[in-house]
Amino acid sequence: MTAAEQRGAEFTLAHLSDVHLGPLPPVGARYWNVKRLLGWLNWQRRRRHLYSRDVLDRIVADIAAQSPDHIAVTGDLANLGLPAEHEAALAWLRTLGDSERVTVIPGNHDIYSGIGTDPGTARWQPHMSANTAAADYAIAEALSADSAFPFVRRFGKLAIIALNSAVPTRPFYAIGRIGKAQLDRLARILDRLGAEGLTRVVLIHHPPLPGLSKARHDLQDADALAEVLARHGAELVLHGHEHASSEHWHPSPSGDIPIIGVPSAAVTRGYKKEPPGRYHLYRFALDGNRPSIELIARGLAEPDGPVVELERRRIVPVRHPLSPPLRGEG
Ligand SMILES: [Fe+2]
Ligand SMILES: [Fe+2]
Repeated sequence: MTAAEQRGAEFTLAHLSDVHLGPLPPVGARYWNVKRLLGWLNWQRRRRHLYSRDVLDRIVADIAAQSPDHIAVTGDLANLGLPAEHEAALAWLRTLGDSERVTVIPGNHDIYSGIGTDPGTARWQPHMSANTAAADYAIAEALSADSAFPFVRRFGKLAIIALNSAVPTRPFYAIGRIGKAQLDRLARILDRLGAEGLTRVVLIHHPPLPGLSKARHDLQDADALAEVLARHGAELVLHGHEHASSEHWHPSPSGDIPIIGVPSAAVTRGYKKEPPGRYHLYRFALDGNRPSIELIARGLAEPDGPVVELERRRIVPVRHPLSPPLRGEG
């Protein structure tokens, strides 16, 4: 049992996303196609100047200094979904912490296009599977399914439920899809964890509701996911993909669900709606019927400045107007 589980009533979760690790490795002949050629050109022209390992290293050092109980990474560690990128991403994940302390899910740039029989993101399996506490828990039906997702990580009174929305896509598409099998299991998992009174934190790469992403960039079955969340509830949903801060609320029987997007942790200088690198820290107080959640945004106020606290507030259910669709490859 971890210190956090023994403490029980408090939990700190760091959330970062879309680190788009560079540099690009050589692209083996078998992996070239139109999608990767366009992505490669985009990287060489623009994206390699946008994402910085130096910025990311400073963000990661700041996360370590904050000593969160757990770290969640919501996808887009890679750029062209190449096996060498999956290897590099695994090495980077290990710099964040061991697999019990770091959870990852894939993004569309991780599952980007065909890689034949290569295991791809399955390399990340230690960071992408149920923890011991969850395996002991009575969700055997969900855990024994053929897909690795959703998987559950339980930390005392809080549980992380991790979805995979990444699918290979055609050129000019960055869409996602959950699929009926994941949605069905998600519904049962949310019910069971909710019945135990756990604080349920759902991770997904793409924004989970309709209308939060532009066309060709969005979650194809967002309507179905929104319905599952509305029926079965959750206490917090965290996502990336848009490279921008966002907050929306979604009704459910157990109260309105905050749905919060985090920008990229690796951006050097603000680009359009992408701010310089930042991440979110969530401090949960788990004593009451509903958790009290404080959000602390930390990151670069100035491109070359230190990592500082940018915002601190309690997450309270206030309805916000929908943000306009955002541009970018995500
Ligand atoms: Fe993405
Ligand atoms: Fe991204």
